[in-house]
Amino acid sequence: MSAESLTRLCAVSDIADNGSAEFDIELGGVRRFLLAVRDGDEVFVYLDYCPHMGYPMGFVNMRFLGTYSKKIHCAVHGGHFMPRDGVCVGGPPSGDYLGRFETRVENGDVYVGEDLTWPGRDAVLAKRQALIDAYLAQQKAREHG
Ligand code: FES
Repeated sequence: MSAESLTRLCAVSDIADNGSAEFDIELGGVRRFLLAVRDGDEVFVYLDYCPHMGYPMGFVNMRFLGTYSKKIHCAVHGGHFMPRDGVCVGGPPSGDYLGRFETRVENGDVYVGEDLTWPGRDAVLAKRQALIDAYLAQQKAREHG
């Protein structure tokens, strides 16, 4: 996919090396909250949505990358994810993945496409639906109880 068909996210230099940043952008007509982590000239972009319970990853402190561990942390329950593929290697969502976006670095700028590589997508969506169903069932029980 060429950079022309992707959306410019930022300049690489807008993200500190070995650091992270959050973004609120529109992709394909959909508002997306993204987090990006940088390792030198490489940038990895994910949906800012924890596969555990759906909270924004920086919900508590708006920071994503562990200074010493170099893993992406969810501030809610401490899930931590590998920066290069988004797999969770510790915490409640172990084995799940962050939603990953096609990312390209070109001439010092970072471009993103739609979410494409999300190996755990079906499991995450099923878990989210189960939470919604449980909540709705609880609400219904309250109304009729
Ligand atoms: S919501 Fe992220 S670990 Fe629980």
